Amino acid sequence: MHTRRIGPFTSSAIGLGCMSLSYAYGVPPPPEQGERVLLAALDAGVTHFDTAALYGYGSNEELVGRVLKPHRQKILLASKGGMAGVQFPDGLKRVIDGRPEAIRRNCEDSLRRLQTDVIDLYYLHRFDKTVPIEDSVGEMSRLIERGLVRTLGLSEVSATTLRRAHAVHPIAAVQTEYSLWTRNPEIAVLQACRELGTAFVAFSPVARKFLSGQLMDLDTLHSSDIRRGMPRFAPDTYAANLKLLPAYLAVAKEVGCTPAQLALAWLLHQGPDIIPIPGTTSVDHVREDMDAAQVQLSPAVLQKLDALINHTTVVGPRYSAQSQSEVDTEMF
Ligand SMILES: NC(=O)c1ccc[n+]([C@@H]2O[C@H](COP(=O)([O-])OP(=O)(O)OC[C@H]3O[C@@H](n4cnc5c(N)ncnc54)[C@H](OP(=O)(O)O)[C@@H]3O)[C@@H](O)[C@H]2O)c1
Repeated sequence: MHTRRIGPFTSSAIGLGCMSLSYAYGVPPPPEQGERVLLAALDAGVTHFDTAALYGYGSNEELVGRVLKPHRQKILLASKGGMAGVQFPDGLKRVIDGRPEAIRRNCEDSLRRLQTDVIDLYYLHRFDKTVPIEDSVGEMSRLIERGLVRTLGLSEVSATTLRRAHAVHPIAAVQTEYSLWTRNPEIAVLQACRELGTAFVAFSPVARKFLSGQLMDLDTLHSSDIRRGMPRFAPDTYAANLKLLPAYLAVAKEVGCTPAQLALAWLLHQGPDIIPIPGTTSVDHVREDMDAAQVQLSPAVLQKLDALINHTTVVGPRYSAQSQSEVDTEMF
């Protein structure tokens, strides 16, 4: 697979997002299946694996750590803190906490679960608006001094927050949702990343399955699937967005790739600094997604895609009001 740069690292042009192996899209697959997907990704040339303390409240890091331990020296291991599960009397709950002591604890817990001495790329999963970004990133830079992490990243931040953080310590990567149907990074963050030499890691690059053309019936989603709470996956909104698909599927046919590959190839063509991280629970899909690195798109095809699916043609915000309040990104 082709490679791209993230700070001092070489990353496969496409990385693997490991979240759905333990969390998010309905009942996660059994660990044996997760193991098969991770090993298939390695076989397909993936050298960049993305996890977080949040995913499965630690179980995703445990899976990734166990399976990838023999391959640790060959991969770029990325994880995130500042948003994790906290035990309350009525159970574990997701808490955003960017205080230095929380970041320290999250990182130490992640290292243990990942069975490694050092995390290559450590992200602040959410900017905690009650804590100055300088304090959170300042603590993360001390993790580097202690040899626990190698480089720093931020997730779902505005250009302003990125610049403030970068003034404290260089930010190697920003990770935010980016795909044909989520164009918010084009407002300001991509530009800021380019000015600062920060790589851009695009999450949910297949639009959480929409752009694979294989999610036609929302009734197939399990009741625990987080997409059920997302405005674009509400029945009426999704039905409106599905109307965009026939023309999109026709472009994939014309190019000679699958719809998911078209979504990933479009991202790779947005700049050499962009690294998509699709997520999948399927060995076949992991192979298919990684083959997208070979797909070439002409300027005419890129123009057609841009006109077809963009922030003016997609219906509905990507997040609920509650989730939107927890992120810091600019919005169309
Ligand atoms: N920083 C953050 O706040 C944040 C938030 C969300 C995600 N992330 C990261 O980004 C990663 C990717 O996010 P995501 O999982 O939402 O990405 P995604 O690839 O856009 O969506 C995953 C969905 O697409 C489907 N899919 C992927 N490839 C497919 C293919 N070739 N054919 C058919 N369906 C396909 C998967 O189904 P199958 O399982 O059936 O393949 C799954 O339902 C996560 O794993 C996580 O590491 C970060």
